[in-house]
Amino acid sequence: MKELLLFATLTLLCPQGNYASLILLGPEYPVLEGDYVTLQCLSDTESNMTDVHVEKFSKHLQKWFRVEPYGLFRRCFYYDLDISREPGRLELTIPSIQSFMEGPYRCVSDDAAFPYNSSLPLTVPVHYMRDISVSRLGVSSYSRYFSPMQDLRVRVGEDVEVDCSVSASQDPEYTWRKDAEDWLVLSSKLKLKKVRVEDSGSYTCTAQHPAVSALSKSRTISITVLSEDAPWYDSTQGRLVLMTSAAGVVVLLLIVSVSVCLCRRASAKNSKGPIDDHSQKKPIYTASVESLASTTGDKQPLV
Ligand SMILES: *[C@@H]1O[C@H](CO)[C@@H](O)[C@H](O)[C@H]1NC(C)=O
Ligand SMILES: *[C@@H]1O[C@H](CO)[C@@H](O)[C@H](O)[C@H]1NC(C)=O
Repeated sequence: MKELLLFATLTLLCPQGNYASLILLGPEYPVLEGDYVTLQCLSDTESNMTDVHVEKFSKHLQKWFRVEPYGLFRRCFYYDLDISREPGRLELTIPSIQSFMEGPYRCVSDDAAFPYNSSLPLTVPVHYMRDISVSRLGVSSYSRYFSPMQDLRVRVGEDVEVDCSVSASQDPEYTWRKDAEDWLVLSSKLKLKKVRVEDSGSYTCTAQHPAVSALSKSRTISITVLSEDAPWYDSTQGRLVLMTSAAGVVVLLLIVSVSVCLCRRASAKNSKGPIDDHSQKKPIYTASVESLASTTGDKQPLV
């Protein structure tokens, strides 16, 4: 096996004809978002590498793009990168890699002819896991935006189904557990049938990235089971109804006041009296103070 590897390396590195071959090397460990990443393009000649550049394949445009510190690639997204060249070696450094920068890379020579003008593509995967969110299922979907899910209040005998989700570079493995109990649910969904008061407590959902053990997130919610005689508005659902109706009332009030305002305007337009007409200036009454300046400053006798 070792000999085979050595042989493969030698064939890759040996000059074939007059042309140099290029190989691209990347990180050996899983790359996480924000990592410092270096890609190396090696040539078997002592070329100063000025005719070699790195390209990245854009999945979106189905095209290879030149990666340059001040290229088109950079103008689309802001990020830092650096390219350094020394005899036989070009190095691309990305100080903080982001998920959109994942994909196949290759290095390309402007001078060499096919097939030595480019290296084999090297795929750089970028792993990440974003914030975890928990929402109650079976209840109308707006509860996802409304309810403060940290404390879910339900009535005794209700069915509760809670879903945990997170966006990650690969589908994570989910588990649900309850504080101070030894069971574990291997699913993103926690289903509690006909809850009893004893089901109250803290429940924690954990999402674990399948490939990177360091990527793990968890979120704890508390479920409070209300007794039969608790008022309806005490439950999360009841509060939701209250909140929604309050919002409805506010919207209704807004509509009513806007239409009243519009009606008043319309009726003001219809009455053509000079004093009611708002487009005209306020009338000045002859006996008022405002009329004095103009009458005393007037050279012409008033009569
Ligand atoms: C790199 O090498 C080419 C020819 O091989 C030469 O024309 C060019 O000036 C060199 N560039 C640098 C920066 O040394
Ligand atoms: C390499 O050369 C071939 C033949 O000239 C050409 O079709 C191909 O586009 C070149 N590849 C790159 C990456 O420039």
